[in-house]
Amino acid sequence: MDKQKVILRGGITTLILFSKGMEISKINLKKVAISHSREKFDISPRLYPYWKNSLLATIKATEGDKLTSDLEQKWEKCLDHGLKFLKSFY
Ligand code: HEM
Repeated sequence: MDKQKVILRGGITTLILFSKGMEISKINLKKVAISHSREKFDISPRLYPYWKNSLLATIKATEGDKLTSDLEQKWEKCLDHGLKFLKSFY
């Protein structure tokens, strides 16, 4: 679990920085894209919406009213950008 928490935190951070167009995060996300592609972990692109929806549900459950619909849309946009990039390397 400890290792998974570190990986998850790193992954979310990378997605946020990628959505801001930071070049270093593109290099990091490309490494993840390659490790998750069919040649390695073989994470099917159809699984990413589940990943995204679980994260959004967790934010909602932990942040409650602080997650306004405007903020939720911003999260979605941010995550979709990186997930699209990951899928393109599958
Ligand atoms: C359905 C979604 C996903 C599945 C099933 C999945 C699965 C995995 C697996 C099996 C590992 C290897 C863990 C280990 O070595 O113990 C891993 C590692 C990792 N995942 Fe994911 N992952 C998913 C989505 C994502 C997303 C969206 C990110 C965001 C960037 C991400 C980032 C990482 C990183 C940074 C690592 C560790 C470094 C690496 O091996 O590339 N993952 N993931």
